[in-house]
Amino acid sequence: MKLVLLGPPGAGKGTQAAELCKEYNLLHMSTGDLLREAVKNNTAQGIKAKSYMDKGDLVPDEIVAAMITDKLKAVDISAGFMLDGFPRTKRQAEILDAALIALNMPLDMVVYFATTEETILSRLTGRRICRSCGRIFHVTNIPSKKEGICDGCGGELYQRNDDKAETIKNRINVYNSQTKELIDYYKQKNLLRKVSGDMDVNELFIVLKDTFKKSGLL
Ligand code: AP5
Repeated sequence: MKLVLLGPPGAGKGTQAAELCKEYNLLHMSTGDLLREAVKNNTAQGIKAKSYMDKGDLVPDEIVAAMITDKLKAVDISAGFMLDGFPRTKRQAEILDAALIALNMPLDMVVYFATTEETILSRLTGRRICRSCGRIFHVTNIPSKKEGICDGCGGELYQRNDDKAETIKNRINVYNSQTKELIDYYKQKNLLRKVSGDMDVNELFIVLKDTFKKSGLL
């Protein structure tokens, strides 16, 4: 399966991607994770990206597209992949199309997680992430057994810098003005499948598996 997960911040893309990639042995590529890693390691790309990410703005297309196209060439994607948070502009979508055509690995499906602004705000303000393994929790929706500690590896849970109310508002505006148009872009290519991001995590996981089955991807 060669998939893109599209949707507003906090729609649950990363949560579902982690489970689906485990279940189907797909390569999970999240530009948000790659960028946070670059910032942590103080790489040239990370230093450039940080100021955009802190404000909730998009990092310039050339930086993000280079990260993904380099990664696509460097790793084995023959078993399939899931792109989470990329593409986010029409320019990125076109660069991705060209890269995948060159690899003879065109996309099978783009899953669009539709959700409301109210859900986004409550999900993002309550999100906590494990510093060691990256597992995603939520203070009320998906709480860890012991407050502040990851159930999986015992690592410390932290709140992302851009998960503060003011930055979240800008991320929503950025999504509406720069990313939302990709819904039509992929609809026209007959690749788009819409699911409700408002569903419970397990319910949505089942709906996604069912969508893949019905489309002949499984
Ligand atoms: P990125 O990390 O990609 O952030 P995002 O798209 O804003 O998405 P999120 O990670 O915030 O949300 P998600 O949909 O994955 O939700 P999650 O599963 O975690 O990007 C960060 C920044 O990097 C950008 O602002 C930009 O600066 C830069 N960037 C990244 N990619 C770029 C690109 N292509 N171009 C340019 N710049 C780029 O869930 C959220 C919360 O809800 C969690 O707490 C979770 O536990 C909970 N939850 C999840 N599902 C459910 C559910 N079904 N029910 C209840 N709770 C749920």
